[in-house]
Amino acid sequence: MNVYSIVLYLHIVGALLLFVAMGIEFVAVSRLRSAGTAEQARDWLSVLGSIRVIGPVALVAILVPGLYMAATSAGWEGWNILALVAMVGMAALAGSNAARMPAIGRSIGPLRGPLPPEARARLRDRIMWSSILTRIGIGLGVVLLMTAKPDLVGSIVALVVFAAAGAAVAFATSGTAPGSTEPRGLERAS
Ligand code: HEM
Repeated sequence: MNVYSIVLYLHIVGALLLFVAMGIEFVAVSRLRSAGTAEQARDWLSVLGSIRVIGPVALVAILVPGLYMAATSAGWEGWNILALVAMVGMAALAGSNAARMPAIGRSIGPLRGPLPPEARARLRDRIMWSSILTRIGIGLGVVLLMTAKPDLVGSIVALVVFAAAGAAVAFATSGTAPGSTEPRGLERAS
């Protein structure tokens, strides 16, 4: 076991933690979308709190070893430069969800029992749903960059396709089924 393999191990642990954080956010956002009472909404909002710890730890564990490997042995190439760009995009999308949480928390805060329609509409915010699914798509795209190491153009195409696939899944599943007020699609499966 040499230094490189330890650094790569830490980098992969960071990547795993990133997917743990996105998995938690996916389940919490999907359950918030179908929450019927203030108590359910509060429970799922509190689950999101764990991401505030796991997310930054994952970010540091990916970036520090990733930058080290790129700077020392792997070299700067299209795939790792694009991975950095992808991480900035993912951070911006994560920030847009984080920025919505205080207002959602305040709107649920004093309520008890069944949620009023305005609160349910806020919990079904399509941007929140699109943000997490697009990030999962981008994250899977970055794993492809890391393993296949395409050139610059191939890396751009791969990231655009994966991000678009995540956004398309979000678009297809963000509405309500015809004749129903309940959300349809992926979020009901979690
Ligand atoms: C979402 C972000 C990222 C994820 C999920 C991720 C995931 C991975 C995975 C799974 C590997 C192992 C691939 C293999 O051994 O075949 C890897 C390797 C690597 N990653 Fe990342 N990575 C991310 C971001 C980055 C960034 C931003 C950089 C550069 C600044 C980077 C640089 C590297 C390097 C240099 C390797 C070693 C490649 C090799 O030795 O073959 N990664 N990454």
